[in-house]
Amino acid sequence: MEFIDGAQVNDLKLIQEMGLRPYEVSKLVSQAFAEMIFKHGFVHCDPHAANLLVRPLPLSKRFIPGKRKPQLILLDHGLYKELDFATRINYATLWKALVLSDAKSIKETSVKLGAGEDLYALFAGVLTMRPWNRVIDPAVDHLVIKGTDSDRSELQMYASQYFPQISELLRRLPRVILLMMKTNDCLRAVNNSLLQGSSLETFFIIGKVSSEAIIEAKMSQRKSVLGWICLWLEEMMLEARFFGLQLVLWLMQMRKALSSC
Ligand SMILES: Nc1ncnc2c1ncn2[C@@H]1O[C@H](COP(=O)(O)OP(=O)(O)OP(=O)(O)O)[C@@H](O)[C@H]1O
Ligand SMILES: [Mg+2]
Repeated sequence: MEFIDGAQVNDLKLIQEMGLRPYEVSKLVSQAFAEMIFKHGFVHCDPHAANLLVRPLPLSKRFIPGKRKPQLILLDHGLYKELDFATRINYATLWKALVLSDAKSIKETSVKLGAGEDLYALFAGVLTMRPWNRVIDPAVDHLVIKGTDSDRSELQMYASQYFPQISELLRRLPRVILLMMKTNDCLRAVNNSLLQGSSLETFFIIGKVSSEAIIEAKMSQRKSVLGWICLWLEEMMLEARFFGLQLVLWLMQMRKALSSC
């Protein structure tokens, strides 16, 4: 109930004056909400910028400009939603499949979540704001929106072209999934204001946390030693895959840093 002195999450100028990096803030927001959605299933569904404050982590060490760690403060706890076990794991499986461009799993989980056999591709498109050919593109940055004028006009074109199908999809989906979509949109707007576009790191975090949640759920259900070993192997393979993605991310960041020198 205390009053918190912090910067609104989209106030780039104040965030930088506090010695915080917008990139770190964006990572923190993505991590916090991915854990809420995929691991805890108890979600703040109104994360617009006025409800998210940032300040330097109070116990962070000596001030080194540009190196302070951010702390996220969530305000306005008026709209929370609980995900039941099946919905949480299906939604995590869907996001893992979206991040890893797994068309078969996207279809299966979208149908389980209520999008229907005919509208699963549209559901994936509305969640990611990407056309289906980009959703299933195996490139690591396939979900990243550059925020260019052509990106914007492409989205507007799809929105007007598929208006009746989008209305039907929204009518079909359970209310809890609609609230997850609203949360997703708020977070996309927050990330846009912090990074002037979406970032690969955000999808990396979503993919990693959703995969961990799926493994944890399977672990809690498996009883036999063989089942446990299979899951352990699955976990190792996923770790290796995300380590590979992290390497690509570092290389891309290094290239960007070198080109701006
Ligand atoms: N504990 C707090 N510390 C600092 N500022 C606060 C705190 N609680 C509220 N505020 C400020 O007041 C504003 C409105 O508060 P809050 O979001 O709880 O109200 P609201 O009427 O539900 O707003 P909305 O419906 O627009 O989200 C916040 O955006 C923030 O700027
Ligand atoms: Mg509010």
